[in-house]
Amino acid sequence: MERKEKLYEGKAKILYLTDEPDKVIAYYKDDATAFDAIKKATIKGKGELNNTIASYLFEYLNEKGIPTHFIKKLSDREMLLYKVEIIPVEVVIRNLAAGSIVKRLGIPEKTEFNPPLVEFYLKNDELHDPIICEQHIYAMNLATPDEVQQMREITLNVNELLKDFMKENGIILVDFKLEFGRKDGKIILADEISPDTCRFWDAKTGEKLDKDRFRFDLGDLIEGYKKVLEKFKKE
Ligand code: TMP
Ligand code: ASP
Repeated sequence: MERKEKLYEGKAKILYLTDEPDKVIAYYKDDATAFDAIKKATIKGKGELNNTIASYLFEYLNEKGIPTHFIKKLSDREMLLYKVEIIPVEVVIRNLAAGSIVKRLGIPEKTEFNPPLVEFYLKNDELHDPIICEQHIYAMNLATPDEVQQMREITLNVNELLKDFMKENGIILVDFKLEFGRKDGKIILADEISPDTCRFWDAKTGEKLDKDRFRFDLGDLIEGYKKVLEKFKKE
């Protein structure tokens, strides 16, 4: 598979075209941002860790029948993906209260949401990714009701699969963010699933192993991400 010109550069990844029109290569950078890129850093080794963790999780979800854009891991920092038209809606699902919901609504951290809480955010850095409801999605023609239903269903299914998978590996899946794309008229899971986009807590110690380490200066980010990967392999 030949890597061709750059298609798009995001905050943590670069997408490249390939010699096949329906496939792209994602290259995972070492850049970390938080709070709409107000906080920025380059953290050596983050790209490799996220590419490895995301490949692992996408492979698992593919095996379980979840439609995703992931084809295969190509190298330390690269994965091969189906090209999709990204829907500019971020879907967040929460099992336990943490992060913005604690700050915004005053819900105490660790409050359990049963059933899990699904939220939609507009993917727009200039507007600071505001929270939106389904009606906004339709008013702005971002997705159809059928597509929203598919995104919600896939998100709930991914949550059940990943929650069990993480539990077996000694990790509490607190919350995560998904993005979806259209391919051949169907909705498939896109973007990445990694400690950049999920909250992972150590089930024994409660230690935060995800990007909150960078957001709130809780400790070395690489050390946390490495612990996540080691847990996948060991426990
Ligand atoms: P939040 O509590 O800050 O709203 O984050 C909820 C989840 O979504 C958390 O696992 C981190 C993830 N997330 C992203 O992947 N990208 C983002 O831009 C934000 C704000 C959160
Ligand atoms: N997407 C956010 C940013 O760019 C990062 C985050 O909080 O996850 O700054």
